[in-house]
Amino acid sequence: MEFLPNTEPERQYWFMDRLKSMIAEESIRAGRDLTYYIQTFGCQMNAKDSEKLAGVLENIGYREAGSENADFVIYNTCTVRENANTRVYGRIGYLGTLKAKNPFMKIALCGCMMQEPHEVEKIRKSYRFVDIVFGTHNIFKLAELIYEKMNSDKKQLIDVWDSSAEIVEDLPSARKFDFTYGCNNFCTYCIVPYVRGREKSRKPEDIVKEVQSLADQGVVEIMLLGQNVNSYGKGLENKCSFAELLQKVCKVEGIKRVRFMTPHPKDFSDDVIEVMKKEPKICAHVHLPVQSGSSRILKKMNRNYTKEKYLTLVEKIKSNLPDVSLTTDIIVGFPGETEEDFLETVDVVKKCGYDSAFTFIYSKRTGTPAAKFPDEVPEDVVKDRFERLLTVCKAESEKAAAKLTGKTVEVLVEGRDEGNNGMLTGRLSNNLLVHFEGCDKLIGKLVNVKLDECKGFYYLGSVSE
Ligand code: SAH
Ligand code: SF4
Ligand code: F3S
Repeated sequence: MEFLPNTEPERQYWFMDRLKSMIAEESIRAGRDLTYYIQTFGCQMNAKDSEKLAGVLENIGYREAGSENADFVIYNTCTVRENANTRVYGRIGYLGTLKAKNPFMKIALCGCMMQEPHEVEKIRKSYRFVDIVFGTHNIFKLAELIYEKMNSDKKQLIDVWDSSAEIVEDLPSARKFDFTYGCNNFCTYCIVPYVRGREKSRKPEDIVKEVQSLADQGVVEIMLLGQNVNSYGKGLENKCSFAELLQKVCKVEGIKRVRFMTPHPKDFSDDVIEVMKKEPKICAHVHLPVQSGSSRILKKMNRNYTKEKYLTLVEKIKSNLPDVSLTTDIIVGFPGETEEDFLETVDVVKKCGYDSAFTFIYSKRTGTPAAKFPDEVPEDVVKDRFERLLTVCKAESEKAAAKLTGKTVEVLVEGRDEGNNGMLTGRLSNNLLVHFEGCDKLIGKLVNVKLDECKGFYYLGSVSE
């Protein structure tokens, strides 16, 4: 037998090679092609991980299916709010009924929820039909886990790590793109640092190499992903700031648009604004989560900025980048939030005029400091504030969206929109959509479109010559 390599990713390729013939044999026994389905919950970080998982499954011979009626189903879970967990449990039961009918079916659970020992315990006790459980730190090991499971008579294979020592590069993967992992901020309400581990930055040369190879495959738009992108560079041997990284990525030939998510207001430095000003490839969109407008609550959240500092930053961004679209995340009902605190949040929304705001009801996460904070806000009060906030946010985003009506802007054509008589759909640099008539050969191209009419959250437009 060939020697098993002891370095990554070579080790995983060794398992993939063996799995190819094992899956081909299974496919013959089943008398059909075997398929996979990955359901991603949560944020872009998970979406990116799912692409890596898909890369491995495709490499070993599975084809993508459109639903859970497949031979390999993975749920990539999120645990940022309690309702994320509830949604997953609701669906795992359904997988069990599918598996009872399909002897070839394998089920794997991974992602942030699996980093919580009490959740894994629940799967071990009550969901025995789940084949493989792994976490956020060993996602690169999927091939090895499948191999191990297929070569053992263990009913359930559980392998969750507390942290990861290295970033494994060069595994098969599709499109999107991440460049930092984890988070060091420990906002008091947030579970992410516990389930994703400490911040780690990929080397700039690895990033540029991957962006180049995506560009070579025809990808024109890149999204740099991390929980706090502007703290990029920590722990790197050769220093590189986030602003410098942005410049390097913009230099890659073939890449036409660069986006990034999510910057933290406390680390948003002037050099990033300068690069955004200079570099036309960087999209005019800043997602800048405020969480609360009350400096008192922000302190309790450990956000490390005040209302005033946040507003000054927004002012600076808007005056330097006049066409920028500004979006945010807001939490309502953090422990101790008073009506006055809430009104400060409303005030920030009005002053910033967000293009769009993601609003969340505070969810208590076991293990975070805020879970022990006194003065929980009663449910009916939170619901009332949440509704009021939604109304304000909606009014602001309608105002903000309409400001481009009549202008001609460059859009990236993404495809056809079934809902709008099959018109083409293009994405503006500020992330809004426009639907317009045009032919298929425009798909994937940058096109100038006149924004004729604002429909609330999207435009109707026409190609401008
Ligand atoms: N790293 C990003 C966001 C990560 S989670 C940042 O710092 O902004 C995405 C959003 O979920 C957060 O911005 C926050 O608004 C929300 N969120 C996180 N934990 C939450 C909790 N316990 N309850 C309600 N919303 C929460
Ligand atoms: Fe969570 Fe705060 Fe880190 Fe964002 S910055 S992931 S909200 S701890
Ligand atoms: Fe959820 Fe994990 Fe992202 S908890 S929000 S999927 S980092």
